[in-house]
Amino acid sequence: MTLRAEAHAKVNLHLGVGPLREDGFHELLTVFQSLSLRSVVELHPSAREDSPGPDTAVSSLEVTGLSARMVPTDSSNLAWRAVDAVARAVGIEPSDLPEVARLRIQKGIPVAGGMAGGSADAAAALLLAREWLSESCGAPRLDGHALEELAAELGSDVPFTLRGGTMLGRGRGEKLTPVLSRGPWWWVLALADGGLSTPVVFRKLDELRAAGKLPEPALDSSAVVQALASGDPRRLAEAIHNDLEPAALSVRPDLRRTLHCGAESGALAGIVSGSGPTCAFLCSDEAHARAVAADIADAGVARLALVASAPSGGAALLPADAD
Ligand code: C5P
Repeated sequence: MTLRAEAHAKVNLHLGVGPLREDGFHELLTVFQSLSLRSVVELHPSAREDSPGPDTAVSSLEVTGLSARMVPTDSSNLAWRAVDAVARAVGIEPSDLPEVARLRIQKGIPVAGGMAGGSADAAAALLLAREWLSESCGAPRLDGHALEELAAELGSDVPFTLRGGTMLGRGRGEKLTPVLSRGPWWWVLALADGGLSTPVVFRKLDELRAAGKLPEPALDSSAVVQALASGDPRRLAEAIHNDLEPAALSVRPDLRRTLHCGAESGALAGIVSGSGPTCAFLCSDEAHARAVAADIADAGVARLALVASAPSGGAALLPADAD
């Protein structure tokens, strides 16, 4: 038996970053939207002898697809940790399991790109682990609320990738409320060489703020929320905003060229996605997005320019033989 699940990338249409909290996180006011770019995670139960140790329910992790080389394949991987988190939450000692899990991730989301790729893998793995442990091992089945709590412990973006759609996020980004969105919306994602570390970008933001170099945090997302309800991409283009963008550009000044190229190509708006370095360009429709992506690819300012529609759904189990 092989279990499969998918989860999608995200873009932040509004990312307002408040002050640094005592727990080391920043208070956010953000609007997330899930994109059609997705990763697929598979869980194959395998014999206990394959286990690397008594403390984990995972025996191995294989990663293929977009920038697979950059992804850790050990217990530091968020998807691996997600499986162990579910086992712990249902009171299972990994060493008592009759079988262990082999994981396989087909990455369709840029790694360390500011698009919640690792979080999406973790959200898919949470669903897989719940299914596997309850169906094959007779463990109690976690409800949606318990799964969301585990998601929030794994990372700030994991709860959103679990739910998908278009959501307002508060707190670390884990407190979610659905937002009305009249889409579809069309995006071009310009992937950069290398990744950007999220903590490094947040630290740079604090530094720039301490030096008085940035305006006040943008803690009002109403322009984006209203534009989403209107269904008008030009209105959304005027409203999208990312407080982290100056910090990401300060660490990766080369991204200015990418943003400039998108603007020259006629994109309605361009923004650094989350903590970067992926840049996201809003377009008026699919044909427009394909033309902008072709221009960005021709200009050589991005490793890859992908077209995506939005919003997509949350993490979901797939039929075992789906593509
Ligand atoms: O939650 P996650 O593991 O994705 O966060 C990675 C890092 O990004 C945190 O350790 C923190 O440095 C930074 N972060 C933050 N404020 C948030 C979310 C993330 O400062 N709301």
